[in-house]
Amino acid sequence: MNVKTAFLIILCLNFGFSGAIKWLSLQNSHLVWNHGVGGMGGSVSGGSEGGGGRGIRSGVKSPCSIARRRYGLAKLQTKLCRSSMDAMPYVQAAAALAAETCKAMFSDRRWNCTSIDTAPFLTPDLTRATREQAYVYAISSAAITYTMARACASGNLYQCACAVPPREPPMGNFKWGGCGDNIKWGMHFAKRFVDTIEKQNARKPPDGEPEDKKISAKMRTYTAAVNLHNNKIGRKVIGESLSTQCKCHGVSGSCSIKTCWRAIPDLRAVGERLLRRFTNAKEIQKSYMVFENDIPEVPVRRSVSDQLVFLTKSPDYCTKDERLGSIGTTGRTCNVTSNGTDSCRQLCCGRGYRTVVEEKIERCQCKYYYCCYVKCKTCRSLTQRHECS
Ligand SMILES: *[C@@H]1O[C@H](CO)[C@@H](O)[C@H](O)[C@H]1NC(C)=O
Ligand SMILES: *[C@@H]1O[C@H](CO)[C@@H](O)[C@H](O)[C@H]1NC(C)=O
Ligand SMILES: *[C@@H]1O[C@H](CO)[C@@H](O)[C@H](O)[C@H]1NC(C)=O
Repeated sequence: MNVKTAFLIILCLNFGFSGAIKWLSLQNSHLVWNHGVGGMGGSVSGGSEGGGGRGIRSGVKSPCSIARRRYGLAKLQTKLCRSSMDAMPYVQAAAALAAETCKAMFSDRRWNCTSIDTAPFLTPDLTRATREQAYVYAISSAAITYTMARACASGNLYQCACAVPPREPPMGNFKWGGCGDNIKWGMHFAKRFVDTIEKQNARKPPDGEPEDKKISAKMRTYTAAVNLHNNKIGRKVIGESLSTQCKCHGVSGSCSIKTCWRAIPDLRAVGERLLRRFTNAKEIQKSYMVFENDIPEVPVRRSVSDQLVFLTKSPDYCTKDERLGSIGTTGRTCNVTSNGTDSCRQLCCGRGYRTVVEEKIERCQCKYYYCCYVKCKTCRSLTQRHECS
């Protein structure tokens, strides 16, 4: 199957809603974020996608234009790219970090987040406002907040610097000092980068459209409202994960000067917190949405204000079904001794598994001989792996 047919198939599967996480495909790009020389093409070999565009005629391609054409950046994101190009390496880093964290969190589950790698072409598991989509939006929004907050503190961005310290003094006789991760600016940037498109998608469909178009446009507005909510949860969780770190200064550890700052944890820790919210995610009925200036919103009820939300129930992801974005679990390695989601019983959905015996050949029992060589034996060992049928 060549790239073009794959593209067409995925396009047909894509219901046309949302797509504000297409930027996650930047994880695979090798763009050079530089106004002058333009970027080098990404991993996609030249031709089919980008070729023949305006860029070629004008000679120099802006990395933002390439990102728009090839990596699915939306119009507003491209605008932000042009005006804040020095922030773009951190957007790219956020894409890689979000994908890595999501895959690590779900590696022992049936849905294992590999579909994130097909961006900018999104499969239905990430367009139909599912529970999985909720997680991906939240972790993406958190990741971009994270990399920006850190970038500010590192002094690499001219738009921002270390965080303004909190008003209340830290515990004891410590003082705020050092350089705090600028979560506020990170959130501000994340909002501009990931929320603005959803806000655009959330506009009520114009009256007078044909009925079938209206239905999909309606679904688009509801999906956008749900995405917006989940983006917010991602940022909220990273905000709640801040910790205070302190340091003593002074001659030979005398601790005459003590400073503290607010730091964000590893994105992994945020990913784990979000995983708990994934488990508790709430399905919401479209009829419960409230309209605020013609834009649907997830109502701020106690039960969902802290939770990830979704509109469409997920399949069990046991068997392959492209219409639902399920790749199935055939061939996945399962754990016979486990009781959890990676157990052969759960991962293989009751279909059973086959045992593959693999022979490992290693150098072993190495001895050092005087002088100067090492002699080893060759050891063979058998290991068992279990693969879902
Ligand atoms: C995720 O699942 C797919 C399909 O079953 C499999 O090919 C892939 O290796 C899995 N990835 C990981 C990290 O386990
Ligand atoms: C399989 O599961 C058991 C029990 O949860 C765990 O101790 C073991 O490390 C797992 N094995 C692998 C290869 O992950
Ligand atoms: C496996 O699950 C059963 C019940 O679901 C539980 O009683 C048992 O302790 C679990 N075993 C392990 C090793 O987690």
